[in-house]
Amino acid sequence: MPVTVVVGTQWGDEGKGKIVDFYASRADVVIRYCGGANAGHTIVSKGRKFKFHHVPSGVLYPGKINLMGNGMVIDPKKLLEEIDQLHAAGIHPNIAISPRAHVVLPYHFVLDGAEEEKKGSLAAGTTKRGIGPCYADKAARFGIRMSELIDPSAFRSKLHTMHQIKMRIIEGVYGMRFSRSEDEIYSEYTDYARRLSGYVKDTSEIISSALSSKKKILLEGAQGTMLDIDHGMYPFGTSSNTTAGGACTGSGIGPTAIDEVVGVVKVYTSRVGTGPVPTELFDSIGNSIRDKGGEYGTTTGRPRRIGWLDLMTLRYAAQVNGLTGLAFTRVDTLSGLDKLKVCTHYVCGAKKVSSTPASHTELQKCRPVYKEFAGWKDLGDEGWLSCAKKGYKSLPAPARAYLEYISKEVGVPIYLVSLGPGREDTIVLKDVFRKKS
Ligand code: GDP
Ligand code: IMO
Ligand code: MG
Repeated sequence: MPVTVVVGTQWGDEGKGKIVDFYASRADVVIRYCGGANAGHTIVSKGRKFKFHHVPSGVLYPGKINLMGNGMVIDPKKLLEEIDQLHAAGIHPNIAISPRAHVVLPYHFVLDGAEEEKKGSLAAGTTKRGIGPCYADKAARFGIRMSELIDPSAFRSKLHTMHQIKMRIIEGVYGMRFSRSEDEIYSEYTDYARRLSGYVKDTSEIISSALSSKKKILLEGAQGTMLDIDHGMYPFGTSSNTTAGGACTGSGIGPTAIDEVVGVVKVYTSRVGTGPVPTELFDSIGNSIRDKGGEYGTTTGRPRRIGWLDLMTLRYAAQVNGLTGLAFTRVDTLSGLDKLKVCTHYVCGAKKVSSTPASHTELQKCRPVYKEFAGWKDLGDEGWLSCAKKGYKSLPAPARAYLEYISKEVGVPIYLVSLGPGREDTIVLKDVFRKKS
C-alpha cells in the first residue's frame, strides 16, 4: 500500500513543506495530520513562494486531494486567508476538512498568552496561535469540532457554556480582561463557518476509498520530533503528536497501512522558541548560517536558534518514528565552511549519556561531544541546480561523506537530498511511490 509519512526529525522547520510538495507530484492524496496555524510550511514553485499554515502542501498541483485531518486544530480566519490567497494566485485546490478537527477560538489565543506568562522559565515561547489551550480543551472533552462549528445551534449551545467558563478563567485566574462577547464571537465564527462548510466532508470515507483503490497517500507532519507532546522535550514542545504515530491517529489510517516513513533532516539544527538545544551555536558561525539561510520563523518571523547537527536526537527520531528513509535539506546553506561538526553523543559530568534524556533539566546538563568534518564549497545557485540535475555523485565529496556518515550512524538510508528551496533543487535516491523491486 503506497502510504508515506513525511515527518520532521528535529525541532521543526526542517523543510517538510518542500519535501511534501516534491513527493506530492506523484501522490493522489495529501493529508496534514497535526498542528494548526503554528506551522509554517514554505514552498517555492516556479519561482513563486507560498507559506502555508493549515493547507496540505499538495495544494499547488491540480487534481490532488488535500485533506486536513482530525488531528489538526483549525483557526478558521487564518485558514480562509490561506484559501483566499490561493484563489488570488489562480489556484483552486481540492480541499476537505475533517469534521473531527477542532476549532481554535478567541479565548484560546488569550489563554495561550496568559499561560505562557505564568509559566515563566518553563514557557515554550509558543507561536501564540492558541494551540495548547485548544488541544487542552480537546483532551478535556470541552472542545468544539468543525462539525459543531458548521451547525449553528450546536455551536451556539457549546459556545455559550465555554464562553462563561473561559471568561471566568481569564478574568478570575489570570486577572486579564476578555473583551469578546459571546454574541460577537458567535456572529464572527458563524460567518467563517458559512464559508468553510462546503469544505467539511467525511474525510474518513475519502481515505477509506483511497486506501481500497490503492491511491498514493502522503501524510504531512508539522512541527518536529523534539516538539512532540510525548516524545519531545517536554514542556518546551507543542501540544500534539507530531511523530509518525500521530499520522495514524491524526488521519484515521491504521499503522499497518503505512509503507514508508521519511524523516526530514536539516543538515544542521534550528529551533524557534525556548528550551535546551545542546548543540546551539552562539558564535559567528551560527550567525552566518542564520543569515545565509534566512533562518527566521515562517509563522512568527523570530530568528531561529542555530546549532550543529545532533545525532543523539536524530537516532532518537529514527526510533520513535520508525524511519525508513532520510530526506536531507539545506546542503547548500551549510556550504562554504572550512570545518563542520556533528554531535555524536553527550556527556554529563564524566559520564557518557547513551540516549536522549526525558527530562529537560537532565538535557540542560548534557555537553555535546563532536566529530569534525571537512566542509564543502558553495557552488552558488546555478552550481547546486546543476548538481541536482546530474545526481548524487556530482555532490562535492565532503558533502557525500557527511551525509553518508549520518545515514550510517542512524541506520536509515538516504532517499532525497535537497540543495535549494525549489522542486528542481532535489536529488532522488529512492522514490517512495515507485514499486519495490
Ligand atoms: P517546514 O516547516 O519544515 O516546512 O520548513 P519551513 O518552510 O518553515 O522552513 C524551511 C525553509 O527552508 C523554507 O524557507 C524552505 O523554502 C527552505 N528550504 C527547504 N529546503 C531547502 C534547501 O535544501 N536549501 C535551501 N536553501 N532552502 C531550503
Ligand atoms: P513547522 O510545522 C518550529 C514551537 C514554538 C514553541 C513550541 C510550542 O513549521 O515545523 P505552539 O504554538 O505549538 O504551542 O508552540 O513549538 N513550534 C514550532 N517551531 N516549527 C513549527 O512548525 C512549530 N510549531 C510550533 O516555537 O517553542
Ligand atoms: Mg516551518
